[in-house]
Amino acid sequence: MSATSAIHIAALTKSFGEVDVLRGVDLDIGGGTIVALLGSNGAGKTTLVRILSTLLTADSGVACVLGFGGERARDEHVCV
Ligand SMILES: Nc1ncnc2c1ncn2[C@@H]1O[C@H](COP(=O)(O)OP(=O)(O)OP(=O)(O)O)[C@@H](O)[C@H]1O
Ligand SMILES: [Mg+2]
Repeated sequence: MSATSAIHIAALTKSFGEVDVLRGVDLDIGGGTIVALLGSNGAGKTTLVRILSTLLTADSGVACVLGFGGERARDEHVCV
């Protein structure tokens, strides 16, 4: 992760039952940048944003915003 990353996502996974929606997403977005998240219907865009905004919990991986990424991230220092 870059020291200036506003959003840091690594190896993120999320499934709903049998449907593997996010299968190891890696993404770093620097502070002060504007990014469009594009993908076909059902690609997992809303799921990704819900995880970033803590409305959903990922199955595994890391999703950090401004250095914060929930309890596990705090314990394991993965957002530093
Ligand atoms: N709460 C849920 N329970 C079960 N399946 C879900 C749930 N939320 C999303 N899904 C499924 O996860 C997949 C990804 O959905 P998501 O809404 O993240 O996609 P999207 O990229 O935002 O799609 P769209 O462009 O239509 O907004 C879809 O197959 C969807 O049916
Ligand atoms: Mg959506």
